[in-house]
This record gives sequence, C-alpha cells and structure tokens, in this order.
Amino acid sequence: MSERARHLYVHLPFCAHRCGYCDFVTLVGRRDQHAAYVEAVLAELALELPLLAPEVETVFLGGGTPTFTEPDALAELLVSLPLAEEVTVEANPETVTPALAVLLREHGVNRVSLGAQSFRPHLLAVLERVAQPDTVRRAFYHLRDAGFDNISLDLIYGIPGQSTPDLEADLDCALALGPEHLSCYELEAKPGTRFTHTHGAELARQADAMESYFELVVERLTGAQYRWYETANFCRTGTSADGRDLRSRHNLAYWRGRDYLGVGIGAVSTIEGRRWRNAPRLAAYTAALARNERPPREHEPLPIDVRQRERVMLGLRLDEPLELAGLADAIDEEALARLTALGLADVMPAPAGPPRVALTPRGRLLGGGVTAELLV
Ligand SMILES: C[S@@+](CC[C@H](N)C(=O)[O-])C[C@H]1O[C@@H](n2cnc3c(N)ncnc32)[C@H](O)[C@@H]1O
Ligand code: SF4
Repeated sequence: MSERARHLYVHLPFCAHRCGYCDFVTLVGRRDQHAAYVEAVLAELALELPLLAPEVETVFLGGGTPTFTEPDALAELLVSLPLAEEVTVEANPETVTPALAVLLREHGVNRVSLGAQSFRPHLLAVLERVAQPDTVRRAFYHLRDAGFDNISLDLIYGIPGQSTPDLEADLDCALALGPEHLSCYELEAKPGTRFTHTHGAELARQADAMESYFELVVERLTGAQYRWYETANFCRTGTSADGRDLRSRHNLAYWRGRDYLGVGIGAVSTIEGRRWRNAPRLAAYTAALARNERPPREHEPLPIDVRQRERVMLGLRLDEPLELAGLADAIDEEALARLTALGLADVMPAPAGPPRVALTPRGRLLGGGVTAELLV
C-alpha cells in the first residue's frame, strides 16, 4: 500500500498590510472574504483527504498572517482540521491579544511561531512592520499566559541600516524572552521590487556583512545552549525539565524529504514523487472549490535526479547525518573526499547499513557552497 502524507500545511494569506520585503502569497484586508476562504480550504482538504494518513503528525498554519484571519473563521478552521501531535500557527505580534492566545490554545494549537523580525525600532521601520519591540514582548507574554510552552521567534538580519551591535542587541532581546525555538533568516530582497529599489546601496553593504552576521548568530545562540539543528533554526536543549525535543517537527519533515499536503492559495504539495502548487489567485480558488473541483494548479516534474539533489541539499542543512542510501548518484565522491580532508564534511561508515554524511560546523557555516560542490 502506498504511504500517505503525515504533514499538512494550510495557507492563510490575509495580512493587515504588506511589508516591503515580503514575497509570500498575501492579500491585504478582505475581512469579508475570510469565512468563504476557510470554507474553500476545508473543501480542498476534503477532496484531498485520501492523500493524508489517518494519523497526521503535524499541522502548520502559515501565511500571510494566520492570526489576522477573522476569529470565527480561524476557530472554524481549527476545529475542522485533523488532530496532530504538533499544531503550529504563525502569528504577527500586533494580532496576539489575550483572547486570540486563548482561542488558539483552546482549539488545539500547541506551538506558535511569532514574527518578531527585530527589536530595533529603526529596523522595524525599514521593514515596514506594524509591531514595536514592546508589541513583540507583550504578544510573547500573552501566549505564555494562555499556556503556550513551545514558542518560536523569527528574526531577520542583514536589514538596511543594521550594524553588528544592532544584531547583538536583537539576539539579546530574543534570548531574554527565553523562547523554546528561534529562526534567524538572512533578509532576502527580490530584485526589481520597490524595497530593493529604495534600499539598493544599503542592501549591497549588508550582503558583504552577511557571513559575519551568520557566524555571530550561531556563536551567540549556541553559546546560550541552543541547538543549531538546521542552518537557520535553533532550539533549546537540556533546559526543559521534561527533555522535550523542541525542533520544529513540521519543518523537519520538509528537510528530511517527507511527503506533505499543502492546501490554500499558493500552497505546495509533494506526494509520492509528484509536486504541485495551487495558483495564488483567490477568486479562481474559491470559485473552483465552490463547484467542488480542484483549484487551478501548476504541476512540477520531479525526476529522480532532481529528487536526489533536493534530498542532499535539504538533508545537509541539518545537524543529523544524511543516509547516502539511494543518493550515491547525486554525490561527487571525489569532492566528498576533498571536503572531508578539509574538515568540512564527515563521512560515517556504518558496519551494517549505508554510510552517512554530515557537514561539520565549519562546513555548515559555509553553507550552500559546500553542498553545491558535493553535488554531481
Ligand atoms: C511566512 S512569513 C510570515 C509570518 C508573519 N506574517 C510575519 O510577518 O511575522 C514567515 C517568516 O519568514 C521570514 N521572512 C519573510 N520574508 C522574508 C524575507 N524577504 N527574507 C528573509 N526572511 C523573510 C520572516 O522571519 C517571517 O516571520
Ligand atoms: S505580515 Fe508577514 S506575511 Fe504579511 S506582508 Fe508582512 S511579512 Fe508578509
């Protein structure tokens, strides 16, 4: 029998406004359409239910700003989704009221990913964020008060106008809150956008500093006893009395090449070697689902060599070794020997079972470049 997906992504695209740097599938406002959108998402889920395993492990509501969704529609969605061991919702700080935090908690959400981005007012202004540093702190405490014991904070670095002391201060402010998890992303600015046009010269200066920022992030967070388990992701270790594994289980599934179902506009699914992406058009999406038809989609061919390369690229982002079984065709043996001799990769031969490979911390700091060299 074929394996069914154990991971479900739900896209909630609505935001109060559009931040200049954002390239996600988002729609501003449209409060009168939230309920109809949720209905369409549930119709899509019903159509695709045969693709989901009876026991789903993780559900992730991403956006957009899921917590900007009309509370009644959000609650309706949450009660209708399959139960899962990890249910994450992305939240913007200014939307997290005590009532919203309780709503999430009472509807089975057990992990919140809070988009702080920075604690420096001048950098928040550059990013066109609504939240101020205190808004982030208040949101964090509302979540704690509602009982959340698994909160992640997102930070961005390489923001126009940022200095090394700014980044140090951001990391200190984030650590002071004691989140279970932190995601720290390099700012990606898409060419041709208003944001890139406005901040061009400063973005170039920030690009030159990116490597040293990355090193600083890793040094600070590992120094604070966070596990650097994925290139941009860190989780608390050892400090939680119950010894919980605080990695994001949902994102781990992506990095481990597991199948997942995505519903909502712009959502991607990868199941049994097939990948498709829903068109990012709201009207076409709701109209198709009102007729109980699949929404417009783009299908991406996923030949075996592409799948193998993707598996290597994603797997080597992790601090756990990647099994080479079935991936030998994607790896350049000579490059692997060279990188091992340089102390950038480690090969772990196994007496029984296939050999495994991982990048060393130095290799991981060099990141994509090392992996690119490894690939045939
Ligand atoms: C799907 S986004 C949206 C989450 C939420 N709406 C917010 O703005 O906080 C998830 C995360 O991706 C990161 N992100 C978004 N745009 C980015 C960009 N251009 N470069 C780097 N990180 C970005 C941010 O840290 C953000 O919190
Ligand atoms: S709130 Fe988040 S998803 Fe919405 S525009 Fe801003 S960064 Fe993008």
